[in-house]
Amino acid sequence: MKPIIVSGIKPSGVLHIGNYLGMIKQSVDLQESGKYSCLYFVADYHSLTTGYKPEEKSAEVMGIITDLLAAGLDPKKSILFVQSHILEHANLAWIFNTLTSMGQLERMVEYKEKVAEGQVPNAGLFDYPVLMAADILLYKARKVPVGEDQRQHLELARDIARTFNKKFGETFPEPEGVFTKALRVMSLSDPKKKMSKTMPAGCLYLTDSPKKIAEKIGAAVTDSQKEVGYDPKNRPGISNLVNIYAEFSDDTPAAVVKKFQGASYKEFKGAAAELVSEKLREIQERKSEIEKNKKEIMRIVGEGAESVRPVAQKTLAEVKNKIGLV
Ligand code: TYM
Repeated sequence: MKPIIVSGIKPSGVLHIGNYLGMIKQSVDLQESGKYSCLYFVADYHSLTTGYKPEEKSAEVMGIITDLLAAGLDPKKSILFVQSHILEHANLAWIFNTLTSMGQLERMVEYKEKVAEGQVPNAGLFDYPVLMAADILLYKARKVPVGEDQRQHLELARDIARTFNKKFGETFPEPEGVFTKALRVMSLSDPKKKMSKTMPAGCLYLTDSPKKIAEKIGAAVTDSQKEVGYDPKNRPGISNLVNIYAEFSDDTPAAVVKKFQGASYKEFKGAAAELVSEKLREIQERKSEIEKNKKEIMRIVGEGAESVRPVAQKTLAEVKNKIGLV
């Protein structure tokens, strides 16, 4: 059996290139390698931890599946499904809650950031990383393609696996993260912060037009130096653009800097905007085709749920048995 890959993405608003480079592009590459059994899901339960409108949720879920398909995930090669269709995720999370201390969750940076941003925390937001651990361990995944912002959550999943194995016998492999070279795509307007839907001005959305992309990259914060360079610590703005260019051209930051030696920031930004627009145009075109056939999208996730459910049921039964439930 091939090693299992699992990753998820929340249906909350429009995706940006941080989501694309952190999770989706990597997931497509892993799928194409043919070396893994790939499971990708829409984390709809996770998305309930922040404010939402019920009447918009199903369109958001469908939108994410469409985005994943448009970006290159292929249901013939990867399994796509919706988290809430598999009841075992929340079930296993409950059991994992009893193995996780309040202190472990209180240390989670993403939780602290959300609270600092003014979100009134509900218990689900606090418990978010435990559900994420259940998502991963339910399928005994070996690898998890995510952005660097999820590293701490992944570490918790590894801790939970270790705790469970120690208490109840070897059951779960410790999952490893798969990170892009860029690790974190930063905000265009504030390159010390990660690109995030909470700061729309610094976001390049997958739905943006070439004009919007040129405007946003054109206005991206850089520095007063003249040469394109790569030094994320001291020159975060230009380094972020170099990273974005490198990721979209499958090149290294050093090669990008070399390519633009002697070019002005304006020229480099123009080239970066063109490169990103070209890729996003392909995705947007495929998306507008795919979204015409909602029935087919439902069929894909229905089939996806059917194929993962027996695996989820088997793991939960094994866990219940090991912890002594009848
Ligand atoms: P979500 O929807 O917030 O993010 C989806 C993916 O996008 C990545 N990401 C970024 N990567 C690089 N730079 C950025 N600026 C950036 N912003 C977002 C995230 O790291 C993520 O990979 N908790 C997960 C969803 C999830 C999950 C799971 C993932 C739920 N269960 C199990 C893996 C395995 C999340 O952050 O979703």
